[in-house]
Amino acid sequence: MIDDDKKAAAEAAVDEVQGGMLVGLGTGSTAAFAIARLAERVRQGLRIEAVATSEASARLARTGGITVREFAGVARVDLTIDGADEIDPWLFAIKGAGGAMLREKVVAAAAARMIVIADGSKRVAAIGAAKLPVEVLPFAQAFVTRELAALGAEAVLRQAGDAPYRTDQGNVVIDLRFAVFPEPLALAAQLDSIPGVLGHGLFLDQVDAAYVAEHGIVSRLERRQPPG
Ligand code: A5P
Repeated sequence: MIDDDKKAAAEAAVDEVQGGMLVGLGTGSTAAFAIARLAERVRQGLRIEAVATSEASARLARTGGITVREFAGVARVDLTIDGADEIDPWLFAIKGAGGAMLREKVVAAAAARMIVIADGSKRVAAIGAAKLPVEVLPFAQAFVTRELAALGAEAVLRQAGDAPYRTDQGNVVIDLRFAVFPEPLALAAQLDSIPGVLGHGLFLDQVDAAYVAEHGIVSRLERRQPPG
């Protein structure tokens, strides 16, 4: 059922893709449904190119017949479609359970429009229950862990089997949990100010819209414009 909702949200978002676009491809199980649908549209004749937020998504897209460009040579993306671990009514999101949040945020920032796709379990009244991943330069691991703990977080180095998990960039991830989740904008500013923190999963101003599917019904939420 959750997979049906992931697929429904993903396919609704892919309907926004138009010929000639450069499309950002997210990472994770929901994004995989979007990549599959986009590949299907490409096989039906849609002409687009893509950039990917992870090596895994790049492989998936190429296997499906989508042309994937190296992002290093790309300054602007038309539309990016990506999953989330939590999304709230302000379109604040937590991302990064799959470890791709740094590339995801760079691609989101480069995109004229970013859409989050999710099943209803990701929709929350306020973000903060999901673990918050932080990508860290391995050189700075102990220092950053100390700084993160000083913010009041339980800071756990992510593991892959017996070894520390490594991102596509070769960095480590420290997952944070807070007894009481801090105010997100202040927390993001604090994380951004720690030398050795390369990225984190708080997406506070990147998400323009979300397609969330629950029991087969897809709702679209658009970022509200500030009054005036
Ligand atoms: C990848 O690092 C993440 O940001 C994913 O986009 C997020 O964890 C959602 O993944 P699922 O769609 O697999 O739940």
